[in-house]
Amino acid sequence: MTPARFLLRTLGLGAATGAVTTAYAVWEARAYTLRCVTMPVLPVDSRPLRVLHLSDLHLTPGQSRKQEWLRSLAALEPDLVVNTGDNLAHPDSLAPLLDSLGPLLDVPGVFVLGSNDYFSPTLRNPLRYLLPDDGTRNTDTPQLPWQDLVDSFTKTGWIDLTNRRDSSVVGDLQIAWAGVDDPHLEYDDLDLIAGPADASADLRVGVAHAPYLRVLDQLAADGYDAIFAGHTHGGQVCLPAYGALVTNCDLEPARAKGLHRHPAASAPGDLGSAWLHVSAGLGTSPYAPIRVACRPEATLLTLTAER
Ligand SMILES: [Fe+2]
Repeated sequence: MTPARFLLRTLGLGAATGAVTTAYAVWEARAYTLRCVTMPVLPVDSRPLRVLHLSDLHLTPGQSRKQEWLRSLAALEPDLVVNTGDNLAHPDSLAPLLDSLGPLLDVPGVFVLGSNDYFSPTLRNPLRYLLPDDGTRNTDTPQLPWQDLVDSFTKTGWIDLTNRRDSSVVGDLQIAWAGVDDPHLEYDDLDLIAGPADASADLRVGVAHAPYLRVLDQLAADGYDAIFAGHTHGGQVCLPAYGALVTNCDLEPARAKGLHRHPAASAPGDLGSAWLHVSAGLGTSPYAPIRVACRPEATLLTLTAER
């Protein structure tokens, strides 16, 4: 084979491989998956509590398949919904979002916002999920209807945990809550939620959109039993059999998604550690609609009594 023919064949093979990989990545971004997890965090003899963790929907009005899949989640009949932000990706997304959540809005819920609830998405390098955070934040695009989103959620009874603490009774359990505004935008105000979590509650839960270590450290040190977060998209473009390469924050890639522990390392004395559940989320930026080895997901967590 002549060098010219070898080069042409190699280039052709590379282009074909790229096209197949891209087609697969576009397909996988729509392969919505329910992940089921058990978290042994409740007081002894408690009945299980089923928690649906939703995150990073990045919904646009035209995503009928995603909306249909979201509607199907109501059949799970969870006891509680935790929504960790990035619901929107279009100025007209709110109505389809509320329609897709449907009966889930009648279930007790808590929420925080992510940067993509505040600001319209913008065209970016689709490979940025393979690159370290470059420090730029998308805050100069038009605002999305985040205030209407907050009003709609709170009207249903969902608790807004934006830089605040609260408490509620879910099933038989008194739950103490703390949440922050999006740490990725540095909107989190940890002073507003600082202090020991309510020791008299049955369960103490922290909620944040982006799992930055400063937030996890404080929640764990303050005695929260479990922390829910999203934002990472699980790495979004992962290596098969290896996992995430990046998290788009300072959390290490090994905890880009799923259930892990977070030690209360900065606490005086040994206060143990918190459970950390990071959702890989259901969406992507509309300008980078790809996922590799990282299915879009919602998670049904069954909280059980500690052994
Ligand atoms: Fe997101």
